[in-house]
Amino acid sequence: MAAQGQNPGRGGNQLAPVTGPWSDPGLSPDRRAELLLDQMTLDDKISMLHGDGMPGGGGGGRGQVVPPAPGGAVSNGGAGFTGAVARLGIPAIQMADAAVGVTRGAASSRYSTPLPSAVSAASSWDLKMACEYGALIGQELRDQGYTMSLGGGVNITREPRNGRNFEYKGEDPILAGKLVGQEMKCLQAKGIIGDIKHFAVNDQETGRNIGNAILDKRTLRETDLLAFEIGLKDGDIQAVMCSYNKLNGDWACENQYLMNDFLKGTLGFKGFVLSDWGGTHTTAKAALAGLDMEQPGSTYFGDALKQAVEKGEVPLARLNDMVKRILRAQFATGQFDLRAQRKVVDVFAGLELAQRVAERGTVLLKNANNQLPLNRAVVKSIAVIGSHANVGVLSGGGSAQVDPPGGSAVAPPPLPPGATQPTGVGNRPAVWYPSSPLKAILAKVPSAKVEYNEGTDPAAAARLAKASEVAIVFVNQPASEGRDLSLTLPDNQDQLVTAVAAANPRTIVVLETGGPVNMPWADRVAGILEAWYPGIRGGEAIANLLFGDVNPSAKTVLSFARNEADWPHDKPFAPPPSANPPAPATQAAGGPGGFGGGRGGGVPFDMPYTEGLKVGYKWFDAQDKAPLFAFGHGLSYTTFAYAGLKTVAGKEFSVSFIVRNTGKRDGIEIAQVYATLPSITGEPPRRLVAWEPVALKAGESRIVTLSIDALHLSIFNEGRDCWELPDGDYKFWAGASSRNLPLSETVKIAR
Ligand code: BGC
Repeated sequence: MAAQGQNPGRGGNQLAPVTGPWSDPGLSPDRRAELLLDQMTLDDKISMLHGDGMPGGGGGGRGQVVPPAPGGAVSNGGAGFTGAVARLGIPAIQMADAAVGVTRGAASSRYSTPLPSAVSAASSWDLKMACEYGALIGQELRDQGYTMSLGGGVNITREPRNGRNFEYKGEDPILAGKLVGQEMKCLQAKGIIGDIKHFAVNDQETGRNIGNAILDKRTLRETDLLAFEIGLKDGDIQAVMCSYNKLNGDWACENQYLMNDFLKGTLGFKGFVLSDWGGTHTTAKAALAGLDMEQPGSTYFGDALKQAVEKGEVPLARLNDMVKRILRAQFATGQFDLRAQRKVVDVFAGLELAQRVAERGTVLLKNANNQLPLNRAVVKSIAVIGSHANVGVLSGGGSAQVDPPGGSAVAPPPLPPGATQPTGVGNRPAVWYPSSPLKAILAKVPSAKVEYNEGTDPAAAARLAKASEVAIVFVNQPASEGRDLSLTLPDNQDQLVTAVAAANPRTIVVLETGGPVNMPWADRVAGILEAWYPGIRGGEAIANLLFGDVNPSAKTVLSFARNEADWPHDKPFAPPPSANPPAPATQAAGGPGGFGGGRGGGVPFDMPYTEGLKVGYKWFDAQDKAPLFAFGHGLSYTTFAYAGLKTVAGKEFSVSFIVRNTGKRDGIEIAQVYATLPSITGEPPRRLVAWEPVALKAGESRIVTLSIDALHLSIFNEGRDCWELPDGDYKFWAGASSRNLPLSETVKIAR
């Protein structure tokens, strides 16, 4: 049946609607996609399977001037877009990076809310907050004319030095999967195609384009892929971004096991797979292995794909499947029925949520002798030291960078004589959000003496600390896609903290990091607050927590080691230096916009993750090594007690126990349940299986009942290629962190 109506066609998602049988919203997205597919020529189809250029995304020399796509679609300025088919009223897919907010906001004179980093939101352990986070990003994408998010990062924190840990949701695949599922579900409800990435095991940035992650199938399914499995199921996420790296010998974006066998076969995924930017390497091999869209260009999925189809190397049926998946995602998220209307972003709603997320995501790691909260009626002098705390808070870089209004609160360092502006996504100077902790602290105690020292001279900072009742030292570690980190804080900040702590026993450290760092001074300071990258209202949130206007409730979603040697690896895997001479250690060469190309130079190297199932806290537990701060740890200004564990293990599994607020303040306790599986399974000692943030008034107690998904208790049977729940003794634990589990009960499961 022919399409009715003509469309002059410009502007991608601004197309006037063209009606046809597929326009009936009563039909399923599958059927509508089929009906539309029937109308398409080979050229129409090919035009949907590749990007049309890369105007923006993360800055750092990546932007290009992009002409209108052949179909007439004009880029919206994001990291990528795929042209419209004007004749049929198929809207363009306008993509923006959106891990912690919509990128290319202020940088292109638009406003987007710079939210706290994903690891901060995750530290709330709150699925409702994950939903709010996703909904806000979805709304802001829509308001700015985008139709697809490139957020949803869920690589698990396997390598503590991974420069992208701030974009992810911690060490545990069940927690990370549940959170990304809610985030994307609520984002998609705004009429935006959601995305989950980087599929899979792109768990470090060093050599990300040439490294080959090696994991056995059971480990894969029970670690990284489990986060994807849960997230995709809970969120019905329509797009998956395959990653740059190789997995078990094949590039992720042409990996038959990952895409065809696991994702589309086992999980029955009906959406589409797009490559990370420059992560496509072949035409027929990639298409046949399950890649549906090349981004951001058309090297392999443009004319080359057309020829491959004409020669029969890629069957027409597969080509149709690729297109149908994309159309289906557009129908499923309402993009044909609810055309985007550009609006001014609701700035105040964004600020409110940004602050609330930071307040719920900042972890009180240490509070010796209840030094915190500070008593504003009593405190007379405070030294605020370091980390540009007089003007702002740090943000995460790379393609996740959201620019603040007015630009960075800290001027970038001057370039050396003769140098040009640094290019490459990992090389852009750190950006500071204009949310000053100093001002927010001052506002709490207007009549106290609050003085700032920039912290570059530890002796001077120590002098100020000595002359003050309390010293608050801010320390930071900038992070960005494209490079991994050292676990040691840069710029001698450890010396700064040590000097200040020696001068003042009431020293509180506020960390602005994207992941764990070494804290050689941890025993010598009174308090430690991990604020991650706390977003555009970070300063206000930190002050509210320091003064107890908000009671901290976050728990860390990753482990902090006492000694760096306690981690499974002493550094990220890297190519032998001789094999890859001058390429910067931080990035592989090549690719679009001068960074991140899939074919990056260098000799491939292996990343054998021999720790297997023992990722993060599971490693510390299995090695019987006490972490400095355990996964799940976080303090409050009140106290909680646990009692009365009961487990039900029949057809369904549940645990119940009583949590009581034994202190004098209202608070939220993230109650956690772990399980020890029968020893015959060979699993690490404990795994997180359920949790719940429980709000309790001072003195209040509540029976908390949590059902446990059978999947969370299962192991992957590689021989039979399925999940199974072995018979045997299961020990259930309940408590406040992975290392503070006062209750336990063992039950026999025989099915
Ligand atoms: C990143 C992706 C991002 C893409 C587009 C790549 O370098 O790995 O996460 O979505 O660029 O900006």
